[in-house]
Amino acid sequence: MTPKRLAILTSGGDAPGMNAAIRAATLVGVAQGWTVLGVERGYTGLIEGEFRPLEPGDVGGIIRDGGTVLGSTRCLPFTTPEGRATARRRLADARIGAVLVIGGNGSLAGAASLADLAEDPQAPRVIGLPASIDNDVGVTSLAIGVDTAMNTIMEACDRIADTASAHDRAFIVEVMGRDSGYLAMATSVAVGADLVLFREDGRSVEAHVERVVEAIVAARRRPTGRRRALIIKAEGVALPALELKARVDARLRAIAGDVAETEVRVTVLGHVVRGGRPTAFDRMMASRLGHAGVRALIYGASRAMVAWAPALTPDDATRSAVDPRCWHVPLDTMLAETRRLLTGESPTVQWRTRVFDVIDGALKL
Ligand code: F6P
Repeated sequence: MTPKRLAILTSGGDAPGMNAAIRAATLVGVAQGWTVLGVERGYTGLIEGEFRPLEPGDVGGIIRDGGTVLGSTRCLPFTTPEGRATARRRLADARIGAVLVIGGNGSLAGAASLADLAEDPQAPRVIGLPASIDNDVGVTSLAIGVDTAMNTIMEACDRIADTASAHDRAFIVEVMGRDSGYLAMATSVAVGADLVLFREDGRSVEAHVERVVEAIVAARRRPTGRRRALIIKAEGVALPALELKARVDARLRAIAGDVAETEVRVTVLGHVVRGGRPTAFDRMMASRLGHAGVRALIYGASRAMVAWAPALTPDDATRSAVDPRCWHVPLDTMLAETRRLLTGESPTVQWRTRVFDVIDGALKL
């Protein structure tokens, strides 16, 4: 009989709420009579056999903390068959038959390889939980950390809007998200931005510059009310924020009237967006995903992700037996949809792009 031993690891960019998932998974595992171990430093620690026991006392209070108490890495050796073979040997030596991987799309691709029975018939059971502030994991409607990141961006932009209004300035605020424009798009709505720039609409660099100029001119020419402009730029737009500013400045100077005097400032939020205490929603969602993930492993599921969604379309998704918002999705299905999200072929991305085209005129008013 397989010993009831479960390992939890966090991998890739940390996301607020990872600790809530670790805590829930530990408590549920221990309550079910399982021995729970934490893997230090993601797949790097797995390859090096860095396991430590996790007891309820070890996870007390961590639900409040950002980052991950287990540490995280982006581990190149794990992408090789040799690296994965070493990792599986470490798990077998420690008599661990079930692994919960908490991370973004790269980490979950790693989870799929770790559990690949074609690569190793003795591979452990592996379940993934989506955790990435970028919200670029396919199929799940949200990943752990996204809500906190959105709230952090909102708070920063609200502060910037105060000072921008006081001086009638234009601000370009760059937010993280790698190739995904989700954080930029969602927060532009939440902060009442004048414009959002994201990669998925396929616009050229020149078109992005023109749109920024148009948004600033429209703001300056408002007959009443605010004349500041708040522009959110997704990190994935292939034009560094300072270069964008320089090109916008040059265009503004060529326009007659007070528009030419508009001061354009840049704030790159960077890693500020990734840290901080998780919001109530992230704590709750991560806890429920952690619970459903461990239950899935206990029932014998493998090579699947637990997605968060009200209702799912993929035919091969099944609803969790313990939580109506949680769905088991084969990792291959999730990875295929992740690829479509990044290439723009996904209906989800096409829908988002269309919405922003439709509301473009309204945002400038
Ligand atoms: O994937 C999360 C993320 O924060 C991205 O938004 C960003 O592009 C990247 O990680 C930064 O990675 P690192 O912290 O390794 O520089």
